[in-house]
Amino acid sequence: MKRLILGLIALFAAGCGGDDGGSGKAASPAAERIATGKKLYQSTCAVCHGLDARGLAMLGKDLHANEFVRGLSDDELLAFLIEGRSAAHPLNERGVSMPPRGGNPSLRDDELRSIGDYLRSLDK
Ligand code: HEC
Repeated sequence: MKRLILGLIALFAAGCGGDDGGSGKAASPAAERIATGKKLYQSTCAVCHGLDARGLAMLGKDLHANEFVRGLSDDELLAFLIEGRSAAHPLNERGVSMPPRGGNPSLRDDELRSIGDYLRSLDK
């Protein structure tokens, strides 16, 4: 609950904060993180989950309104992306491994968090 409230405060602050100099065009920090996450997603994750994140047969799953993602906190989602899911993992249904950091070891934790923000933006 505390986490949710903090999240809401952060969202509220992001929505209200920041002077864009009156242009009205500056993206909010949240929108920027989602845009960054989307680019990183497309270069690292799309090969298995599809460019539109709708999943690919026998590879990565559909990530829109994804129940597994919904069930994780931001920290847990980061931990999942760091670890991936081996073919032997009890939750693995397809018998295909998702490599740690989506197979891109150069992705930093903050970049994985941006990808997480992008995934949450697909939860509609
Ligand atoms: C080499 C292919 C591959 C790449 C690259 C890949 N994934 Fe996956 N991903 C998978 C597979 C396979 C699964 C597990 C399927 C299963 O459990 O049956 C999976 C599972 C997931 C899940 C859990 C979905 C669920 O419903 O259980 C999430 C979330 C996810 N991937 C996100 C990502 C993100 C974000 C990236 C990029 C950083 C990424 N994946 C890169 C293949 C991949």
